[in-house]
Amino acid sequence: SKPVILAIVGSLRRESYNRQLALAAQKAVGDRADFRLLDYADIPYMNQDIEFPAPEAIARVRAEIKSADGIWFFTPEYNHFFPGVLKNLLDWLSRPVSKDEPQVLAGKPAAISGITPSMAGTALAQDHLVTLISFLNMKIMNIPRLTIPNAQQQLNQAGALELAASAPYLQKQADAFLKFIDSNK
Ligand code: FNR
Repeated sequence: SKPVILAIVGSLRRESYNRQLALAAQKAVGDRADFRLLDYADIPYMNQDIEFPAPEAIARVRAEIKSADGIWFFTPEYNHFFPGVLKNLLDWLSRPVSKDEPQVLAGKPAAISGITPSMAGTALAQDHLVTLISFLNMKIMNIPRLTIPNAQQQLNQAGALELAASAPYLQKQADAFLKFIDSNK
């Protein structure tokens, strides 16, 4: 059966370039996988006072992670880091579900992409994300990663992300991630 790819976007912004990139990745994957976007805007801040039993939103997010064969991160860069909302999500997911059940990210194949209006292409944010998710024992596909600078040069007249120049690279990453997921089964 088809693998499930779960996209995690590190921006809550409605018009987020990274969200639009995730939707373009969904098209690049096509019918080769069941591609889903994780909705996590409603999760609380990590607070050990409310950790067990997990809040409903956390239980829901964990179930989505468990059912995924691969996790594809689309992260903005905030101050040369990945955004706090993504750190908060990963802090929750880094913790065991219960005494008998370990954290849900270990062993999951991960791909990383990012887009920014600036020139650096989110490379620094991606490296920080790699440091964290490798500590969480995810299986990271480091080649290829996708860093897209100058987002505003790839918009259409309506201001939506068109990705003319970057589309072939996104397609290559999608193809590679499908193979990577398959080889990690
Ligand atoms: C930014 N931005 C930014 N861009 C970048 O390339 N490097 C950076 O270090 C930062 N720092 C930064 C800090 C904060 C607090 C904000 C709000 C923004 C700009 C950022 O790339 C831009 O707002 C993107 O549009 C955010 O991604 P989404 O929401 O479009 O996916």
